[in-house]
Amino acid sequence: MKVTVNTLNKMAAEGRKISMLTCYDASFASLLEDAGVDILLVGDSLGMVIQGVDSTLPVTQEEMEYHVRCVARGAKRALVLGDMTFGSYQQSPQQAFANASRLIQAGAHMVKIEGGAYMAETTRFLSERGIPVCAHIGLTPQFVNAFGGYRVQGKSEDDARRIVNDAKVLAEAGASMVLMECVPSALAREITETVAVPTIGIGAGVDVSGQVLVSYDALGVYPGKKARFVKNFMADAQSIQGAVEAYVKAVQDKSFPAAEHTF
Ligand code: KIV
Ligand code: NA
Repeated sequence: MKVTVNTLNKMAAEGRKISMLTCYDASFASLLEDAGVDILLVGDSLGMVIQGVDSTLPVTQEEMEYHVRCVARGAKRALVLGDMTFGSYQQSPQQAFANASRLIQAGAHMVKIEGGAYMAETTRFLSERGIPVCAHIGLTPQFVNAFGGYRVQGKSEDDARRIVNDAKVLAEAGASMVLMECVPSALAREITETVAVPTIGIGAGVDVSGQVLVSYDALGVYPGKKARFVKNFMADAQSIQGAVEAYVKAVQDKSFPAAEHTF
């Protein structure tokens, strides 16, 4: 059965964990969904893992459309989530709709937008017009220059309250899902208990509706520095398929992420 927004809502309501991995091509799309992955994220992490650049900022709308098209051809069951690239949505809701609709036409079923409460108007504009939106809050990698690096967000009480408010406001504006990156697990848990939509974590602990990792990290392919929240599932696997199945199982039985992967 095809994974839809309804499937995700039902899984979250029933406490069945959602598994997501990044995916950039048709062969992996097929392999990942056969191994049980529910959501294929065509992430702008493709800048680092595919293109070899040092942030997500150089990735373009056209490149994202190309990779969404590749993934959509290989995916039959999984939900395809496409990242909105830096500069393709921040100007106005109209600009965001124009570019999001192209990702949907390329085969995405939902788009992901980085940013806090101020993205509510855009989130509403898209969702009211038939484009499901995943809000991406906490560590938003497109803000690397503003943050002065990649670091855990929401550690101070003020920051934590701001991030809870971001999640609330964006869910109320119509976001179908909230993804949180690198936030303390207690904060991710509070947000999951607060918002009515499924939550996905990366470096956000186990008390969320589901998990995501960059597939190249989960398979030990990426040559760069390994973040705390990453686990290489190839270490104990005989095949890529086996490693992905182990990831899905670990997400489902909540053995991943463990305390060592958590802030
Ligand atoms: O681009 C990406 O891979 C992402 C995940 C890290 C959530 O946005
Ligand atoms: Na991304």
